Amino acid sequence: MLLDQGATRLQAAGIATARLDAELLLRHVLGWERADVIARGSEEVPDAALALFEGAIAQRALRRPLQHLTGHQAFWKHDFIVTPDVLIPRPETELLVETALEVIRDVRTPVVVDVGTGSGCIALSLAAERPDARVHATDLSPAALLVAQGNASRLRLESKVTFHEGDLLDALGTEAGAVDLVVSNPPYVSAEEWATLEPEVRDHDPRLALVPPEGVAGRYGRLFASAARRLRAGGGCVVEIGQGQADMVAREARAAGLEVVEVRPDLRGIPRALVARRPPG
Ligand SMILES: C[S@@+](CC[C@H](N)C(=O)[O-])C[C@H]1O[C@@H](n2cnc3c(N)ncnc32)[C@H](O)[C@@H]1O
Repeated sequence: MLLDQGATRLQAAGIATARLDAELLLRHVLGWERADVIARGSEEVPDAALALFEGAIAQRALRRPLQHLTGHQAFWKHDFIVTPDVLIPRPETELLVETALEVIRDVRTPVVVDVGTGSGCIALSLAAERPDARVHATDLSPAALLVAQGNASRLRLESKVTFHEGDLLDALGTEAGAVDLVVSNPPYVSAEEWATLEPEVRDHDPRLALVPPEGVAGRYGRLFASAARRLRAGGGCVVEIGQGQADMVAREARAAGLEVVEVRPDLRGIPRALVARRPPG
């Protein structure tokens, strides 16, 4: 069967999720739901779909990410379009959304800034959960911002989120006013670690999204300093951190004049979200 052939080819290419990936690619080219794979699995597949499937399997065997072949990634409660111009949203980043929602739970009409928005997954998830929020999203990459704006339109959230091109929170200009919450999943991979990443990540996620040119500590330091200049007294800052970075990131937060409130682990128990705040006035 077609699915078996695809899975065997991906397995031979060293892909751990070979069968799942082959199934998702088959469903993508045929527009099938999961149940169709069982109910219609032995049907003859039209030639055009067959060629698309074989092409996609060949690309995946070359370690192109599944999401670049399907063009989609689910995150939090929505489906996001992804292209090679943006980081593919990761499941662990949903912890940032969950934590951010708690930080602004009691704030009415909060002003929120997502720094380095990529696909827009964090900013748009927060805007959907908190229709009263004024959300700003920044990115240095104009190509990423186009993807994020496309996702905002698809989710009908264009009027809730404003996109700004530029460095960290300087991209905002003076428009945003005092900020209640800064949330960010910044690039936090060192150049040495980048070289050891899986090919799907190293060769296909934008390097700008992974590796900060000023170094990881330098990036967190700049991010916190930039956030501290914009946060209202008592305002929160929620950032994603890499494995083993909690102490270093906490030091950078304190050096920028912020208080460290807590560090939360992800589902694998790895410290993943650091919450800081500007001391209340
Ligand atoms: C790790 S990705 C996060 C993307 C998205 N927020 C997510 O969680 O999937 C980091 C993002 O920050 C952007 N970026 C890198 N340097 C930046 C800077 N100096 N100012 C603003 N954005 C930057 C990258 O283009 C990329 O979109």
